[in-house]
Amino acid sequence: MEKSEVLLKIGEKYNPPKGIVERAWIKDYESLYKRSVEDPEGFWGEVAEELYWFKKWDKVLEWNFPYAKWFVGGKTNITYNCLDRHIKKGKGDKIAYIFIDEENREKRISYKDLLSLVNRIANALKDLGIKKGDRISIYMPNTIEAVAVMLACARIGAIHSVVFAGFSVNALNLRIKEAGSRILFTSTYTLRRGKKIDLLSVAKEAVKDAESVERVIVWDRDGEGFKEDEKFLDFYNLIENKSEECEPEEMDAEDPLFILYTSGTTGKPKGVLHTTGGYMVQTYFTAKTVFDLHEDDIFWCTADIGWITGHSYIVYGILANGVTSLIVEGAPDYPDPGRWWSYIEKYKVNVFYTAPTAIRMFMRYGEEWPSKYDLSSLRILGSVGEPINPEAWHWYYKHIGRERCVIVDTWWQTETGAHMITTLPSYPAKPGKAGKPFFGIVAEVVDREGKKVPPNTVGILVIKTPWPSMLRTCWGNPERYEKYWKSIPGNVYNADDLASYDEEGYIMILGRADDVLNVAGHRIGTMEVESALVDHPAVAEAAVIGKPHEVKGEIIKAFVILKKGYEPSEELEKDIKQHVRDTLGPIAVPEEIAFVEKLPKTRSGKIMRRVLKAQELGFEVGDISTLED
Ligand code: WT7
Repeated sequence: MEKSEVLLKIGEKYNPPKGIVERAWIKDYESLYKRSVEDPEGFWGEVAEELYWFKKWDKVLEWNFPYAKWFVGGKTNITYNCLDRHIKKGKGDKIAYIFIDEENREKRISYKDLLSLVNRIANALKDLGIKKGDRISIYMPNTIEAVAVMLACARIGAIHSVVFAGFSVNALNLRIKEAGSRILFTSTYTLRRGKKIDLLSVAKEAVKDAESVERVIVWDRDGEGFKEDEKFLDFYNLIENKSEECEPEEMDAEDPLFILYTSGTTGKPKGVLHTTGGYMVQTYFTAKTVFDLHEDDIFWCTADIGWITGHSYIVYGILANGVTSLIVEGAPDYPDPGRWWSYIEKYKVNVFYTAPTAIRMFMRYGEEWPSKYDLSSLRILGSVGEPINPEAWHWYYKHIGRERCVIVDTWWQTETGAHMITTLPSYPAKPGKAGKPFFGIVAEVVDREGKKVPPNTVGILVIKTPWPSMLRTCWGNPERYEKYWKSIPGNVYNADDLASYDEEGYIMILGRADDVLNVAGHRIGTMEVESALVDHPAVAEAAVIGKPHEVKGEIIKAFVILKKGYEPSEELEKDIKQHVRDTLGPIAVPEEIAFVEKLPKTRSGKIMRRVLKAQELGFEVGDISTLED
């Protein structure tokens, strides 16, 4: 690319290079946006036509507040669109995934071979009596095999529930029981910083009292001699002689595709339910236009399949576009901080999607690491998971994008299923501001009464109309679902994020408005951590807050009241941290624990976390009229 094409800096607005605009699927955001919200059904109907349906829908949208049905009457199968559709076009030998582990061992799989693997697993599940609508939990590392299991479920209409392989026994146990899964897929281990992390032991412990689980299917990664019995089956033995053909189940557009548990304000995670048609259409179309994917692109999303980012942009939205993408297992900076950049060079990655926390970590290691590598293949850089601070934005732009790439800062949630607010590659970006609503999305920043706030004022982000990939319910808890739409007047979806917008309509996200933490891009409920804390024999009461942190965005600080007979000590602190690690997993462990005598509470006995937070950060405490003590 010519030097003259280097992005023009207009204040804090960055125009995309000409070359990127020229090849972009969408060149004129404004006019298409206008059309998409004036006629959302016409717009989404046209998008859906790009995909394959066994039977076309009768109606694009049926909105019965707060319940939406998209592509009503339509029949499809998402795996058909992710795999068969490309194979039928003669692209069977194209590489779907390149998997790389921490020792740079590489495994490639073509679209054709991925379909065969998926079908063998699907047939094995059928032979075990698994039917459409049954739930299957997946506790596996970020690997091709895990993706294949997800797709096998979708092939036959079973509902998968992936549990991030960093979660511990209790977290896994709860998610299996809540979903009522008949099968659990797991693996002997996952790799992290050169160490094998035992997943099988966690899985064994987690299914002990989970009565719904009939079988645990274990992927014995190194063939280390895992012993089968009635309940624990060997993955490869099971699929060995299965047919490579399996007709895709004809799924209704509104048939459930998966459940994914995410943290909310209460102690229990919520099982966000996504359905087939709408999720397929929006993940496909956002991946296509926001990442501007073309036939020969190499895409890399650094997320884990245990999170929604992995579901939508490692698996479904990406495969639906038929490109080649990377799946990488292990730590970003192991064995050294050049790991990621070496892959971009080696595999000529064109579109790279990661989280601000990772960018900030690499900023600390210094630009000498990326500068060792040829990153000229890159065209589009994505950010997701938390607000990207302008300093990190500029570093990403300069040291990874080399001032030749565009950055798309994509705001969305587990609940939204796909991108909702972002800029497009052909549209100017503003560092620190996510951008504008995606096509068909009507977003607004309002106060608690639902009234639109003036520009550059903090309010709550709401979505005013239904969108195809929206969650349909919370598994087993419809009241919790309805709360999203009923907590702010005006029949709007409350995203529970603080936000503001500027005169040009760019939306800036400021962080969560509720008791949910964002630690290194991971969503963690304060109540979940508090429950794990009070579960320790020495802890009487606990309160948890998020404390700003340079790299992780937030860290967890816990305030703990000990039971009578216990004295604060370093050892006890360690022991309590270990307890949280054992129950929830390493991502939920408080970095700091303060032993206190009392906690600020309202007269009704609710802990006032914001008082603790204000004290911790040295702010004014604000309105404490309801405070008891
Ligand atoms: C919360 C959702 C959606 C994929 C990963 C997280 C925060 C997400 C951004 C962004 C500012 C962001 C919000 C949101 N968030 N993307 N680009 N800018 N904040 O999914 O675990 O469901 O968390 O992540 O606070 O509500 P999730």
